Amino acid sequence: MIYLDNAATTFPKPREVTEEVRRCITRYCGNPGRGSHRLAMAAAERIYECRELLSDFLGVGAPERIVFTLNTTHGLNLAIKGALKRGDHVLISELEHNAVRRPLFAMQQNAGVTVDVFPVLGLSKTALLEGIRARCTPSTRAVICTHASNICSVTLPIAAIGALCRERGWLFVVDGAQSAGHLPLDMTAMHIDGLALPAHKGLYGIQGAGVLALSEALLPAPLLEGGSGVDSRLPTMPELPPERYEAGTLATPAIVALAEGVRSLQGGEAERIAQLEKSLFAAAKDRLLSLPDIEIYEGDTPGGVLLFNRKDTPSTELGQTLSEAGICVRAGLHCAPMAHRALGTPENGAVRLSFGRYNTVAQLDALWKALRK
Ligand code: ALA
Repeated sequence: MIYLDNAATTFPKPREVTEEVRRCITRYCGNPGRGSHRLAMAAAERIYECRELLSDFLGVGAPERIVFTLNTTHGLNLAIKGALKRGDHVLISELEHNAVRRPLFAMQQNAGVTVDVFPVLGLSKTALLEGIRARCTPSTRAVICTHASNICSVTLPIAAIGALCRERGWLFVVDGAQSAGHLPLDMTAMHIDGLALPAHKGLYGIQGAGVLALSEALLPAPLLEGGSGVDSRLPTMPELPPERYEAGTLATPAIVALAEGVRSLQGGEAERIAQLEKSLFAAAKDRLLSLPDIEIYEGDTPGGVLLFNRKDTPSTELGQTLSEAGICVRAGLHCAPMAHRALGTPENGAVRLSFGRYNTVAQLDALWKALRK
């Protein structure tokens, strides 16, 4: 089996991640923050360690502003629904995933929020920023956008967008689903107020946990109410993060796995993986273009994701054929219909290859043979 669907979830996981999950559920997985016995305390300590690690890794500057969520979508819903008010205007990019598009659509329908979309594809950084400025209104309250597309090798100039938001006093919320672990992220330097990311993709943790990192300027209303392990007499959630946003039992095994995944990227390993992904992108592109009727989308900048189609073949059919040949890719619309519309693939979608630290050029030779056949 050849796994080229790392943008959906990385697979396999590093040995230290799977071993820590096993250690957690066999040795110390009490309910963190619920009780003061040995197992509850051990789990709480590990979770706090993970907050500290992530706070340093993401340039947050405060472990308590690392909020654990179920996944990236949960973090984005919390930031969007908890921070926006009736009358607010929001700018999003044309490359947004449904994790941004759908909560904002719900806010448009139910909460009187308005949304405009700024273009990205083919634009210089200056032109992209101009597109944002041109669409702002006196009611603009936030820019919410992805850092890296989930379907093609395009990244947004997050630091420059952050600087613009800071200058204008807008909130800046970033979907880091495809960039965390792949690209440097520094919340403070990039002026990000809310950064949502998954444990199980580029950070090499497991499914079941995500993170919403908050700046001091963003204190959204909670999305969920319930037990928090603190202030139990109150009928309301605690005032401060992280407990304000962490109602119910946390996914301790997924959080300790995330910590191990992040440790596995330190000491230059994240940079090595990013270089490997670029060389895999170039090797895959060469092989694909040696075949007839292949079109590659946004293929000029090597990255972790390569999108292509074969003329007159439905992308999902090609994905299925590759699956039958033992090659895992993702085809179709990838929950990103806006981005596919921007790329000119709104109906058929396309086939996505997404690379990870365990992929090799030899696997791309096998892909090429399967496609040729
Ligand atoms: N959003 C993930 C993807 O792009 C699941 O495949």
